[in-house]
Amino acid sequence: MPAGPDSALRVVAIDDDEQHLKFIARVLSRENVKVYTSTSPQEGLEQVYKERPNLVVVDLVMPGMSGLEALARIVEFDPAIEVVLLTGQYSTESAVEAIQKGAADYLTKPVNVEKLEKRVEALLLELHKGQRCLQLEHELLENSQFASMVGHSAAMLEVFHRIRRVAPHFRTVLLTGETGVGKELAAQALHRLSPACSGPFVTCNCSAVVETLAESELFGHVKGAFTGAVQDRVGVFEAANRGTVLLDEVGELSLSMQAKLLRVLQNREIQRVGSPVARQVEVRVIAATHRDLKEMVKNQRFREDLFYRLSMVQIKLPPLAQRKEDLPLLERYFIKRFAEQYSKPLRGITRRADVLLARHSWPGNVRELENVLGSACMMTEGDIIDVDDLPEYLRERQEVDVSVGTQDGDVLSTLEEVERAHTLRALQSVGGNKVRAAELLGVSRAKLYRILGECDTPEGTTASGDRSESSD
Ligand SMILES: Nc1ncnc2c1ncn2[C@@H]1O[C@H](COP(=O)(O)OP(=O)(O)O)[C@@H](O)[C@H]1O
Ligand SMILES: [Mg+2]
Repeated sequence: MPAGPDSALRVVAIDDDEQHLKFIARVLSRENVKVYTSTSPQEGLEQVYKERPNLVVVDLVMPGMSGLEALARIVEFDPAIEVVLLTGQYSTESAVEAIQKGAADYLTKPVNVEKLEKRVEALLLELHKGQRCLQLEHELLENSQFASMVGHSAAMLEVFHRIRRVAPHFRTVLLTGETGVGKELAAQALHRLSPACSGPFVTCNCSAVVETLAESELFGHVKGAFTGAVQDRVGVFEAANRGTVLLDEVGELSLSMQAKLLRVLQNREIQRVGSPVARQVEVRVIAATHRDLKEMVKNQRFREDLFYRLSMVQIKLPPLAQRKEDLPLLERYFIKRFAEQYSKPLRGITRRADVLLARHSWPGNVRELENVLGSACMMTEGDIIDVDDLPEYLRERQEVDVSVGTQDGDVLSTLEEVERAHTLRALQSVGGNKVRAAELLGVSRAKLYRILGECDTPEGTTASGDRSESSD
């Protein structure tokens, strides 16, 4: 996760050799780089926890704590932090171990100034790109909102397009889609873009009204119409006159209420319970449901004639699982919203937390995402949301299923083959994103490349240079 837009690159250098530490600090210092130094590993780690630097340069051999141990703690704290290990003597074994444990690089002392400088330059560039990305994402978010609905997937653009087309003209619309996909938001958008936008928008949640009171709820009643009717009451249809009524969860209405609703839709007039007078109402009707009404018609739980009247114009909202490209945008949108709501300086989400969100299937759709991020924003103590802030059920590791036989019927016999197949499958599951795949598999990027038999040797990653033998 890149740092905030105006913060410089932060580097922590840890080395018990004070002279050498000073030298490193000099090499690293430049405009836009803030260097923190420490001769004690414990103190250095404290700085890491406090500053969440972009880069840590740490000596391999120090009294009290080895560089590898420090590396392990840093990787555990935030795998996005790049760690470069320094060692007095080059040894292939420890270099390999370091890279496997998540080090970005392994340099021998005395440090090659050029190599270290290149590393810092590369990081600065990445940070810059990250900031540019943030800025672009921000612009994208601004441009991807439609009447307070966020989305830029093809499926959502189609929904926006339909809403825009339908809004000026509709008398009745049916909104369908799983719970939490945004049907109510879509209904509000339809109202706001309709000529009745200055009129009232009234929602009736059909699943929440008791059967015996449903008629009064929708159409109102007159005083004395039934026990408890102590005065005249206006129903939602009258309340929404010259505006829009949303009949949410319309599939929950009883058959007898469905018959009454049909009559109102046909005549656009209502009768309060207990009153002989019919009143004209001018309302646009939006019905919403997460149910398959057609199926309900087949099972005689929904009137066919009402279904046809409602579904002449239908807008289907896609589940979040089918438009995961909207996920980063929605994350940003909600984090921004909750940051304002809770007055917290939240700047985003770590890459590994993002990976957890990306691989979840979101059965509760946008509402679930909103709840998850709402609680994460409330819980987090830092300025960035991390895995610990996410609910337990998201953190439980879903194992990627690997059987030893492949889909093509090949049998993988060696460990390398299985490792490679497993890696490729993980890579596929995250759309080819190697950074995410490495996180999913719990290995360093260098190791991922090694397994794949590719070369990703940034300057100085000597350890992986001669290790392409596992490629096939
Ligand atoms: N595209 C979207 N952009 C922003 N927020 C959304 C979007 N879709 C849904 N939400 C939010 O998710 C929650 C659930 O949406 P809602 O319209 O009530 O879903 P439904 O009626 O389909 O169950 C609401 O808080 C809503 O504001
Ligand atoms: Mg709803």
